[in-house]
Amino acid sequence: MSESADAPALDLAAFPAGFTWGTATSAYQIEGAVAEDGRAPSIWDTFSRVPGAVDGGDHGDTACDHYHRWPEDVALMRTLGTDAYRLSVAWPRVLPFGDGRVNGPGLDFYDRLVDGLLEAGITPSVTLYHWDLPQALQDRGGWNERGTAEALAGYASAVAGRLGDRVTQWATLNEPLCSAWIGHLEGRMAPGLTDLPTAVRASYHLLLAHGLAVQAVRAAVPGAQVGLVTNHSTVEPASTRPEDLAAAARMDGHTNRWWLDPVYGRGFPADMRELYGVELPERPGDLETIAAPLDWHGLNYYFPVTVEDDPGGPVPHAREVRLADVPRTYMDWQVDAGGLEALLMRLTDDYGVSRLYVTENGSAYPDAVGPDGAVHDPERTAYLEGHLAACARAVRKGAPLAGYYAWSLLDNFEWAYGYDKRFGLVHVDYETQKRTVKTSGRRYAEIIRAHREAQA
Ligand code: IFM
Repeated sequence: MSESADAPALDLAAFPAGFTWGTATSAYQIEGAVAEDGRAPSIWDTFSRVPGAVDGGDHGDTACDHYHRWPEDVALMRTLGTDAYRLSVAWPRVLPFGDGRVNGPGLDFYDRLVDGLLEAGITPSVTLYHWDLPQALQDRGGWNERGTAEALAGYASAVAGRLGDRVTQWATLNEPLCSAWIGHLEGRMAPGLTDLPTAVRASYHLLLAHGLAVQAVRAAVPGAQVGLVTNHSTVEPASTRPEDLAAAARMDGHTNRWWLDPVYGRGFPADMRELYGVELPERPGDLETIAAPLDWHGLNYYFPVTVEDDPGGPVPHAREVRLADVPRTYMDWQVDAGGLEALLMRLTDDYGVSRLYVTENGSAYPDAVGPDGAVHDPERTAYLEGHLAACARAVRKGAPLAGYYAWSLLDNFEWAYGYDKRFGLVHVDYETQKRTVKTSGRRYAEIIRAHREAQA
């Protein structure tokens, strides 16, 4: 019997034929081999060496050793029965110096991986930038500089030029919010800065980089399907006090509108420009570049937030309130599948997105291999089922959802939280690199099989 037998039945019939079932990872979180075949350091190699920056002093030097074990990992995807795999390419493997010099052996790795995936019948979906900026570019100012946006376009051309004969599904960036706000304002991620003007300029250059990369990929790959992956949260006020309502509107601007409005042709929201009070490094034509029509949008969703007014606190002057008596994951993130449904509908109805993917969704729990050799993770299984049910409801209401990628295929390096926070459908023993499919992974496989059989 499934461990989640009490969960409400999943409305699988809502998902259209051809719905993509996938898993996702990112380069620095799984690859390891940080000094191999000409790869140079990224900002995460640097940041993870800063004392106290990452829990347990962890770093990505070996991670899941996917660089060497990728055939085993592709075989695991086959075991799960997934159709697609969302991976990211490591910029510092391909253009280690952040300039035009391409490192052939770095690209060869992705060549082999893409071929291996296609041989296994798994469609690769490639994200160009998942946070691992070459340190050489950071040394020249990083996302504070327009040149970094232009460099991303050059990198995109190199990768798309090499893989574009086999890869059609492309994403420019993963979660630019985290790169800009967490990396440059809160300092909890690489490059670890805490400066509002730098963070705002970084946000602008990231979105510009996205637009320039869209052009570069389309120029290199006829028929490319190009999208952007952003992370969002629903935002609730802690009370009906006008101050809290205003705080929620600011947090919504910071978390959602700042990233979606410019991409969907509305420009940067005026209220947030005023709040930040930082001049944007705008040049004529930039907004059109940023708002290039996309083939799809990827939503990463994990948790909702509730906020109250915090006039003396940091921008956006909205303090998160920790609700009592709500389910939480090991990240201390509130579990609320309704937030996923709401955001899918907002992207559909408010922003007019015509093709959507959930490009990440998942949960961390403190899993362990049991005496029976299995990893039982009923909470993650329930999280998965609950969020898929939310997707089904959104599809019934008209969301053009074309696929779901579970985060993550493997337990991996969870950035500043190190290896303690496990998001995988597959458990990784970091001592031995042994992989064990968790119960949630088996349940995902069951769901995929059931959907496929119903379509046959
Ligand atoms: O692990 C991260 C991933 O790299 C980006 N999205 C959120 C995940 C969980 O925190």
